[in-house]
Amino acid sequence: MTAPLPSQKAMVPFVSVENMMRLVHHLGIERVLAELTDLIEEDFGRWESFDKTPRVASHSRDGVIELMPTSDGTIYGFKYVNGHPKNTAEGLQTVTAFGLLADVATGYPVLLTEMTLLTALRTAATSAMAARHLAPKGGKVMAMIGNGAQAEFQALAMKAVCGIDTVRLYDIDPRATQKAARNLEGSGLTVIPCTSSQQAIEGAAIVTTCTADKQFATILTDNMVGPGIHINAIGGDCPGKTELHKDILARADCFVEYPPQTWIEGEIQQMDRSYPITELWQVVTGQVPGRRDERQITLFDSVGFAIEDFSALRYLRNQIVGTDFYQELDMIADPDDPRDLFGMLQRAR
Ligand SMILES: NC(=O)c1ccc[n+]([C@@H]2O[C@H](COP(=O)([O-])OP(=O)(O)OC[C@H]3O[C@@H](n4cnc5c(N)ncnc54)[C@H](O)[C@@H]3O)[C@@H](O)[C@H]2O)c1
Repeated sequence: MTAPLPSQKAMVPFVSVENMMRLVHHLGIERVLAELTDLIEEDFGRWESFDKTPRVASHSRDGVIELMPTSDGTIYGFKYVNGHPKNTAEGLQTVTAFGLLADVATGYPVLLTEMTLLTALRTAATSAMAARHLAPKGGKVMAMIGNGAQAEFQALAMKAVCGIDTVRLYDIDPRATQKAARNLEGSGLTVIPCTSSQQAIEGAAIVTTCTADKQFATILTDNMVGPGIHINAIGGDCPGKTELHKDILARADCFVEYPPQTWIEGEIQQMDRSYPITELWQVVTGQVPGRRDERQITLFDSVGFAIEDFSALRYLRNQIVGTDFYQELDMIADPDDPRDLFGMLQRAR
């Protein structure tokens, strides 16, 4: 007997890495980054309608594996993501991810996708959204400290959304800086490789730190940070893993995604709970001001929150409608008689 054909509900649209790359080239990366920024901002604007929880983390000696769920009551989404700083030394990536959207009404999945590329895009778009509200107006220069997998995405989002025209690169590994400089050739950005973080931040309006190290690192010290800059701290995103000296936090106005998660994972894990923080969604909705004056140091203590992934999944779902940028996966067992799961199995013998 031949196996019964899967029902239409069994089929889940799946975006492979290959199709994600085709889609990004088809749309253009700066367009994707700009549109994602707008969609993330739209979802931050309806923050209170989301089901929220700090991500569920499983820590091990060398890294972390995390699940990041959220729902707006109509659609449910989650991302699986890891963070293993030692991986690059073994020829593996620090961060890999995949994610899923499901219909809340039935619980049936409606999208499965690679999210390693999508995470880099959404992290860059989230940085750009924060900078749009917090960075000094008219700043054209950014420093990018940590030139690994996320770096070029970050630079291009700041160009597309905030009008940055120059990026100053620094990494402890000069090969990473050379790679990023090569990849950004022809992007329209002026690229300046630097030999220290101190040199990289000279004249920068936006300083992005995106390093990977499983420890309390000090990528920036207090004496390096002058007034008026916006710091976008991305790499400190786990307990015991930070990038900034706490004296910088003491001088900065700090903006966060979801405080219950950021207190565990962000730069602010170094501070006591009386340290004032502002939730970014309140800036987006106009309840609280972003940048107030030219001398203020603003800090986006980014750890990555589930709503940003939800926005990215939602963006992708809209973009693939009517295209060939996905395949149908026979993923959900859906017998004609819903109680005859066993019968369906038997008929496939
Ligand atoms: N906040 C978020 O939403 C978010 C999203 C994705 C990744 N991350 C985090 O961002 C970090 C970077 O991710 P990635 O995928 O680019 O990692 P990666 O390993 O590809 O790159 C990290 C780079 O940092 C460099 N580096 C390490 N220590 C440094 C130092 N002291 N000074 C300068 N450079 C240094 C390394 O040489 C490497 O090139 C990771 O810690 C990751 O967990 C955060």
